[in-house]
Amino acid sequence: MWDYTDKVKEHFLNPRNVGEITDADAVGEVGSLACGDALKLFIKLDENKERIVDAKFQTFGCGSAIASSSALTEMVKGKTLDEALEITNQQIADFLGGLPEEKMHCSVMGQEALEAAIAKYRGVEAPAHGHGHDHVETEGELVCKCFGLTDVFLKKVIASNKLTTAEQVTHFTKAGGACGGCIPKIKDLIAEVLGEEKKVTAEKPAKLTNLRKMQLIQETLENEVRPQLWADGGDLELIDIDGSNVQVAFRKACAGCASSGYTAKFVEQKLRELVSPDITVQEVQG
Ligand code: FES
Repeated sequence: MWDYTDKVKEHFLNPRNVGEITDADAVGEVGSLACGDALKLFIKLDENKERIVDAKFQTFGCGSAIASSSALTEMVKGKTLDEALEITNQQIADFLGGLPEEKMHCSVMGQEALEAAIAKYRGVEAPAHGHGHDHVETEGELVCKCFGLTDVFLKKVIASNKLTTAEQVTHFTKAGGACGGCIPKIKDLIAEVLGEEKKVTAEKPAKLTNLRKMQLIQETLENEVRPQLWADGGDLELIDIDGSNVQVAFRKACAGCASSGYTAKFVEQKLRELVSPDITVQEVQG
C-alpha cells in the first residue's frame, strides 16, 4: 500500500485544527463528495485584518487529505494573506516529509482551498481553480468532465510541479482517473506546457544544414520524446527523414493506440520547437 511518512501518519491520527470557525473572515471550499474528496477551510484574521490568527478545516477524504489539511492550517497561522498565497502544494507535502505521488492531489486540494478562501475574502475570482465547488467562477475550458477540471487549472499544476506524464497529472489532480476520456487532452496540455517552457530557454540554431537537421531530429527524438513515451509504456521508431518530413512508427503501448494522432502531434510540436518550425511528422506502419 502507500508508504506514508511518520509525520503524515501523526497528522492523520492527531489532526490539528479540525472544526469550524463560526465567525471566520474567509472560507474556501473545494472538491465534492462525488469526487471522493472535499475540503472546507476556515480562516480568521487579526483585528487589523492583516495576519491569520486561526485556521480550521473540515474534510472528507483519505488519510493524506486529512494530514494535508492539518498541515495547511498549521502552515498558514501567523502569515499575512499574501504570504499564505505563496504556499505551494509541494510545500504542504514537504511539511509532511513528503506524500506518495498517487496522493499529491490532497496537497493540491489544500492549496486550492486556501486560494479560494482568500479570493472570496478579497472579492476576486479564484485563480485557475479546477474544482468549482465553492461557486467560484472557474477559468478556462473544461477538460476532465468526471472531476470538473479546467485546462487553466491543469496547466498550472503541470507547470508548477514539473509534471511530464498523464499518469502524474492523474496523481496530482485526479484528472484522467475515471473514464480516461480526457487523457489525450491532458497529454496535449503537457506538451503545451513543456513547449512554453522550452520557448523561454531553448536556443534555436541560426541555420541548419541538412545533415545537422537530421542529427538534431534524431537527438530530440532520443532525448526529449522517447523518454516521455516510455513513461507511459509506449515508444516510437524513426523510419525516415525526407527533407522536413519525419516518418515515425509507434511501438509498444503507442502502437494502434486511439490517441496516436495526439502523440504524433506532440512529437511534431517538439521537433518544431527544438529543431525547425517547418517539420511535419507522419505516422507510418513500419
Ligand atoms: S473525463 Fe477525465 S476521467 Fe473522465
